[in-house]
Amino acid sequence: MTEAFVHLSVLGVEAPRALVTDADGLYVDGTFGRGGHSRRILSMLSEKGRLIAFDRDPEAVKAAADIRDPRFQIIHAPFSHMREALGEIGVTAVNGVFLDIGVSSPQIDDASRGFSFRFDGPLDMRMDTTRGETAAEWLARAPEGDIVRVLADYGEERFAGKIARAIVAEREKSPIETTKALASLVERVVPRNRRDAVQHPATRTFQAVRIQVNGELDELSSALEAAGSLLLPGGRLAVIAFHSLEDRIVKRFFERTAHPERAIDPRLPIPVEQLPKPLFEAPERILPSKAECEANPRARSAVLRAAARTAEPWRATDAAPASGAKSASSRQR
Ligand SMILES: C[S@@+](CC[C@H](N)C(=O)[O-])C[C@H]1O[C@@H](n2cnc3c(N)ncnc32)[C@H](O)[C@@H]1O
Repeated sequence: MTEAFVHLSVLGVEAPRALVTDADGLYVDGTFGRGGHSRRILSMLSEKGRLIAFDRDPEAVKAAADIRDPRFQIIHAPFSHMREALGEIGVTAVNGVFLDIGVSSPQIDDASRGFSFRFDGPLDMRMDTTRGETAAEWLARAPEGDIVRVLADYGEERFAGKIARAIVAEREKSPIETTKALASLVERVVPRNRRDAVQHPATRTFQAVRIQVNGELDELSSALEAAGSLLLPGGRLAVIAFHSLEDRIVKRFFERTAHPERAIDPRLPIPVEQLPKPLFEAPERILPSKAECEANPRARSAVLRAAARTAEPWRATDAAPASGAKSASSRQR
C-alpha cells in the first residue's frame, strides 16, 4: 500500500464501539475500503467472533487479502445484496451491520478511476470496475432532462440546466471521455461571479454523476432494509454518511423503524396495543470530535447513526424513493 493509499478511517473508534455488543458475535462490514474499521472490529471480537466484509470495488477486495485472520472473510458484491450473498454461505442472522458509505481515498486519489477533477483520467467513476456503465458512457447517452435532474437532485447544482445543455452540445461535436474534459466544460459554463470561492465549480457535477453511475442512494436504501431483516434482537446497525442526501435516507429509515406509530394519523381510534411496534430502539447520532476534524478534514461532514434492533419480527418499511430526494449540502470527499 503506497502512502497515497493510506486511508484514515473516520470515527474509527466510535463506529466499531457503536456496533459491537457481543465479542462472540457475527458482524458485517458492508464497506471494507482498506479495512480500517474492519481491523478495529476484529480487535474487539473473541476467537469465536466472525466478520464478513463486502466491497463492490475489486481493488478493495484485493487489499482485503492482507487480513490473514480465520475469523475474517471478504465478499465482492454490492452491500444491497448482502442478504442474498450471506444466504449463499449459510448466514441468515447477524449481530451487527456497519456501513461507511461513499468513496474511499484510494478511489479518489487514483487518476485512472476518474472520480476526481484534480487529476486527468478516463471518466469512469464506477466503484465496481467489472460491470456497469461508466460516467462517460452515461453522459454520452443520457437525455438532457435526465442530466438536469441528476445534477440538480444529487449535486444541488444551481446551473444544472446550463451544464446539461453544454454537455449535450459538446457530445455532438466530440465525446466527453476524460475528467479534465468534463471539469473544463463545467468551468466554462458556470458564471465566474457565481463561482464558489472554496469549491471547484465541477465539484457538484462530479458528485452528482458519481451518485448516478453507482446508484448510490438506491444501494443505501436497499442495504438498510436488508440489514434490518438480518439483525438479531439487540443487534446493531451503524451507518456513517458524508452528505445530507445519504444522511437523510438513514435518518428517515431510523425514524420509520424506531417510531412507526408516528406514521399513523393520531385522530384514528386505534388502541395503543394495535399500533405498530418499533423495529429499532431510538437511534443515537455521533459526530467526529473537533480533534478528529482537525486531523482529518474528511471527517468534518461525517454523521454516524446507530441503533439496536428490537425483538419485533422484521416487516419491510416503506422506503422513500431515493431517486426523488432533493437538495444535498455536501462535498465530494
Ligand atoms: C469510505 S470507504 C470505506 C472505508 C473503510 N471503512 C475503511 O476503514 O477503510 C467506502 C467503501 O465502500 C465501498 N462501497 C461503496 N458503495 C458500496 C456498495 N453499494 N456496495 C459495496 N461496497 C460499496 C467503496 O468501494 C469503498 O471502498
